[in-house]
Amino acid sequence: MAGFFSEELLNEIISATDIVDIVSSYVHLKRSGSSFMGCCPFHKEKTPSFHVSADKQLYHCFGCGAGGSAVQFIMNAEGLDFPDAVKFLADKVGIRIPEEGTHQNEERYHKKQQIYEMNRDAARFFRESLLSDAGKEARDYLSKRGLEGQTIAKFGIGYSLSSWDSLLKHLESKGYKRTLMVEAGLCIMNEKGHVYDRFRGRVMFPIINPSGNIIGFGGRILSGDGAKYMNSPESIVYDKGKNLFALNLAKKSERGYFILVEGYMDVISLHQAGITAAVAGCGTALTREQARLISKSPVYLCYDSDEAGIKACERAAEIFKDFGTKLKVISIPSSKDADEFIKNFGKNAFEELIDKAKTVTEHRIDLLLKGANLDDVAQKIEIMEKAAQIFAGISNAVEREVYVNQLSIKSGISVEAINSEIRKVNSKNLRREVRSEIQKTVSIQNTQAPEKKNITKRRAKSEAGLLSMMAESQKVFQSFKEHYKEESFSYDIHKKIYSLICEFYENNAGGKCSDYLSGNMQGEEKELSAVLMSVQNVDNPVLAAKDFMNVLDDEIFNEKLTKAQNEGNIEAISALLKEKKQKGGK
Ligand code: CTP
Ligand code: MN
Repeated sequence: MAGFFSEELLNEIISATDIVDIVSSYVHLKRSGSSFMGCCPFHKEKTPSFHVSADKQLYHCFGCGAGGSAVQFIMNAEGLDFPDAVKFLADKVGIRIPEEGTHQNEERYHKKQQIYEMNRDAARFFRESLLSDAGKEARDYLSKRGLEGQTIAKFGIGYSLSSWDSLLKHLESKGYKRTLMVEAGLCIMNEKGHVYDRFRGRVMFPIINPSGNIIGFGGRILSGDGAKYMNSPESIVYDKGKNLFALNLAKKSERGYFILVEGYMDVISLHQAGITAAVAGCGTALTREQARLISKSPVYLCYDSDEAGIKACERAAEIFKDFGTKLKVISIPSSKDADEFIKNFGKNAFEELIDKAKTVTEHRIDLLLKGANLDDVAQKIEIMEKAAQIFAGISNAVEREVYVNQLSIKSGISVEAINSEIRKVNSKNLRREVRSEIQKTVSIQNTQAPEKKNITKRRAKSEAGLLSMMAESQKVFQSFKEHYKEESFSYDIHKKIYSLICEFYENNAGGKCSDYLSGNMQGEEKELSAVLMSVQNVDNPVLAAKDFMNVLDDEIFNEKLTKAQNEGNIEAISALLKEKKQKGGK
C-alpha cells in the first residue's frame, strides 16, 4: 500500500501528524484522562463513545468499531483512498510530496519558496539597518540588555527603521510584489489599498523553522508606548501553533533535552550563556503541536514566576503528559524570568537550577504548601485532600511513597493519614473505571470478528485488556509472559498481537510498542486499535492487568470445565476442581 511514497516520506508525514489535531477538525473532543472523547463521526450517537489517544496516535469508536490511525481516519472521514489520505495529511503538515504534487500544490510550494526568500532579504535589510547610523538607539538598547555581537549575529537580530516604507521600497527594488509582502505579513494594506511597513522602530527577531527558513518576525519596541511586541501574522509559511522559537538551534544542542521558556529574550539570554537547549512559543499559549515537536526528549518547563507563568506551566505539564514526555519544572527564585535570573546570578546559577529541577509532582506539592498555614486544621485537611488527588495518579508505588514521605516531613501530616486519603481517592477512581469498563464491554464484543461465536464477552474483553496493558508497559509484559502462550488467546487477531508484543520486547526493538504493532499490522488497523484502546486511563497497568488475568483464567477454567462436563469426563472434572481449590487456597 505504501508503494506510492517512500517509507521515509510516509514516516515523515505520519510523525509530523498529530491525530488529536486532525480529528479535532471533525469532532468536538473533550479530554478524558490521557485521551480524548467525542461523538463518533461515523455513526449516529448521543453519548460519546469515540476515543482518540495522543499517546498511541490511534482512534477507536466503542459504538461502531471504527478505528485506526490518522490515515484511516482521513480515509473514512474524507472518503479518500490511502494515497490521497496521505497526501491530504502531507498538505496539512506542510510536507511536499515530490512529483505526485497536484497543480495547486505546486503553486503553493512556489509561493512559500518566494516568501522564504523575501523574508531572508527582509532580515538582511533589518540587520543592515541595525548596523547603520539609524540603528544606534537599537544597538544601545541591545547592549543595555547584555546581548553580545555574536549573539545578535547568531539569532539574526535586526532593526526595523522608524519609517512607513523603507522595507517596502527595499523589497520592491528587489522585485517583490506588494501583494506578497502583505501576504507574508511584512507589510499591511489599509482599507484604501495603501501598503506600508508593519514593523517600524523595533528590534527584529527572525523566527526560523528547523529547515532554516525564516517564517516570521517578532518585533520588540525599544521604549515608550505601544505593544511590547508586534508579531508577524500567520501566513502560508507561519503557523504559530506549530513552531517554536529557536527550535532550529536547540535541536542541534548537545544537551539532549529542551528547556521551554516564555519569551524570546529568555531564549536568547540562555543561548548566550551556553544553555543552548532553550526554546519558546511565539506569543501564544503552548499548543499540542508545539509540545509534540519536542516531546520525545526530556523537557524542562521554565515559565515566568508570576501567576500567569504558574498557570501556563500547569497547562504545559498536562499537555506533555499526553505524550509521556520526561518532564521537570524549573522554578526561578527571586527573578521574574530566566533572562533576568541569568543577568542577576549568572550561568552557573542557572545550571544549578537545571540540576535542582523538580518533578511535576514535587512542583505541584510545593505550590500547594506555599503560603499555607499548617496550624490551621481546615487548611491542613484541604492540602491533604489535594495532595492525595495528585498522588493517586502515580502508578509507581515506590515513587508514590517517596512523595508521601516528602509531604509528611514538610507538612507534619502523618504518612498513614495521607495514604488513607489516597486509598479513598483510588477506590473512587477504580469504581468509576470499572463502571465505564462494563459499559464498554458490550461494544467491544460487537467489534470482534465473529470467528468464535461461543467466546464469552468477558473473555474477549479480558484478552484485549491484557494485551493493551502489555503493549503499554514492559513491566506488565515481564510479569505475565510466563503465564500465557499464543494459544491462550482465543481470537486470531489477539494471537497475532500477542506474538508481535513478544517480538517487540524480546528484540528490544526500541520506540513504542504501539508504534511497532501499527507498523506490522497494516490492513488490520481497525482490529488493532480496538484492542489497544480497549482500556484507557489506567493508573496502574500492573494491577489492571492482574484483574484481566483473573477474569481470563476464570474463563479458561470454565471453558475446560464445560468441555469436561459435556464429555462426561469425571476424572477431568475432579482434576479441574482440585486445581481450582488449590489455587484459591493460596
Ligand atoms: N508577547 C507578545 N506580545 C506582547 C507581549 C509578549 O507576542 N505584547 C510574547 C512574545 O513572544 C514574548 C513572550 O510573549 O517573547 C513573553 O513575553 P514577555 O515575558 O513580556 O517578553 P520577553 O521576551 O521576556 O521580553 P522582555 O524581557 O524584553 O520583557
Ligand atoms: Mn519576559
